[in-house]
Amino acid sequence: MLQLSGVSYRYAGYSNEVLHDIDLRLDDGEIIGLVGPNEAGKSTLCLVASGLAPASIGGSLRGSLTLDGVPAAGLATHKLAERVVIGFQNPNTQRSGIAATVFEEIALGPMNLGLPVAETVERTRAAIARLRLDDLIRRDPQRLSGGQAQLVGIASLLAMQPRHVILDEPTAQLDPAGTRLVGEALRALATTGTSLLIAEHKTDLLDGLCSRIIAIDGGRIILDGPTATVFDDPRLAALGVEPPARARLVRALGNRGLEGSIVEDAIAGAAS
Ligand SMILES: Nc1ncnc2c1ncn2[C@@H]1O[C@H](COP(=O)(O)OP(=O)(O)OP(=O)(O)O)[C@@H](O)[C@H]1O
Ligand SMILES: [Mg+2]
Repeated sequence: MLQLSGVSYRYAGYSNEVLHDIDLRLDDGEIIGLVGPNEAGKSTLCLVASGLAPASIGGSLRGSLTLDGVPAAGLATHKLAERVVIGFQNPNTQRSGIAATVFEEIALGPMNLGLPVAETVERTRAAIARLRLDDLIRRDPQRLSGGQAQLVGIASLLAMQPRHVILDEPTAQLDPAGTRLVGEALRALATTGTSLLIAEHKTDLLDGLCSRIIAIDGGRIILDGPTATVFDDPRLAALGVEPPARARLVRALGNRGLEGSIVEDAIAGAAS
């Protein structure tokens, strides 16, 4: 379990806090979606939940982050990385810069965890298969398209099989097919007990993936509840967050006196 209790955070060199009194509990195997307008504090919350802020980037934090009951504040960086990993919106931020091929890039994560070579190779192959990257494995990781680089970044995280994963806009550069692929991979990861916090503007992706949604604005939690409840909440649009197509259709039908469950049934039928 990953838990933030009463967390407020201020960047180094700034006098104002950008997160205020955040309480968030992420259970094992749970996927929580994080939504909010630009500048709401989503990326900052990702940095804090991953322990990078303040440990690596500085700043000051009030409240606490605990990982499986252990306070993050007391953990060395490499111990922190064994428990929680973060994927950034810009895959270039994440790329090691030392791998000659995509295969090596993905293998670096499990290798750095000190795993035996056979297991490192097995996990790397599994992550490559999961994200259908077989055609790219010999390519130079620095010469990929934005979407390819984002998939490689996510494959690197999958190969580490972390207990907790924080993802900041993991599909920002992906087309619909790539976005679906990532969705399936993240769902499969959660079934192994990994917990995920995903900051995303694509609410359609979160709608099919998350059990809970947290909406933030101005560094504060505004809405927090089951996915359907938050996505059907009229206050969401006021935050500048577009609800998923399902919720918009149900509402549009309801406004015309029609039964919204028709949409739910149609979606269930299309998915089966
Ligand atoms: N490195 C930084 N130093 C100082 N302030 C920062 C830094 N990064 C972000 N901020 C500020 O913190 C606030 C929250 O920004 P953050 O990047 O967390 O928002 P966001 O919800 O991720 O936005 P977006 O949807 O645009 O990615 C903003 O006011 C921003 O200006
Ligand atoms: Mg952001």
